Amino acid sequence: MIKKAILPVAGLGTRFLPASKSIPKEMVTVVDRPAIEYVVREAVAAGIEQIILVTHSSKASIENYFDRNFELETTLEQKQKLDLLKEITEILPTHVSVVSVRQPQPLGLGHAVLCAKSVVGNDAFAVLLPDVLVKDDVAQNDLARMIQRFEQSKAAQIMVEAVPDHLVDQYGIVDVAAAPAEGESTVMQGIVEKPAVGTAPSNLSVVGRYVLPAEIMTLLENTPKGAGNEIQLTDAIAMLQQNSVVEAYRMQGQTFDCGSKLGYLKAVLHYGVDHPKLGEDFKALIQELKIES
Ligand code: G1P
Repeated sequence: MIKKAILPVAGLGTRFLPASKSIPKEMVTVVDRPAIEYVVREAVAAGIEQIILVTHSSKASIENYFDRNFELETTLEQKQKLDLLKEITEILPTHVSVVSVRQPQPLGLGHAVLCAKSVVGNDAFAVLLPDVLVKDDVAQNDLARMIQRFEQSKAAQIMVEAVPDHLVDQYGIVDVAAAPAEGESTVMQGIVEKPAVGTAPSNLSVVGRYVLPAEIMTLLENTPKGAGNEIQLTDAIAMLQQNSVVEAYRMQGQTFDCGSKLGYLKAVLHYGVDHPKLGEDFKALIQELKIES
């Protein structure tokens, strides 16, 4: 069973400046909670029990958020603010733990994943890139489907979605004989990081959710620097695919790239209107704006 998930959070978030100058971009609030909580919830909903943060010295507030805060809890208890107390103590279910390792140098996503090698050991694991929020409105989320598929087939799973052809140079792109239906996986024939427009093998982009066998760590140790002069996870997956079956899983849900300002605003709108307490009032606020096209 896949119980461990790596969340690389060491990046400095230059796309989200100035906010990310002194707040980790993962802690920027989407409606009433930091973006990273949505990603952790997605992992927990898929059965993950250990969250492995690959982090940086400037990002202690992420670790603090998932820790208990004795002082705050005592104050809320004394003031009988029990609803709030419940909210802050139930951020993580009790069976879920968070550990962190440091990425000492910004050498790329592949290097960040490799930093968690000793924590994952011989276990297969998931990777979730927290810039991207995945909104699934179904009981079994996309990550859970990928894990189920991995457990049946033992093939690594790479979550993909279609993007417009002119945007392929911003993503990892997979090569498949035919695009799978949403919610299904198909054997991948290749994967390339940020191909130039016009050279991509398809328009199916890597979303930032992966289920990988432990052997990817050995491959990462031998992965030379690639696109952007960084050690790319995509390149290690391409090596894995030379000797093992790797599958592209086509997602059903919706993605929001919270690493970009417009993607973030879109996420606030969508999660805002669906919020159980604020949703109706938020919709009324949007109506009040009387936006004309
Ligand atoms: C990373 C991956 C890329 C993937 C993307 C998804 O790139 O390297 O393959 O498509 O995340 O967001 P980054 O956005 O960190 O440059």
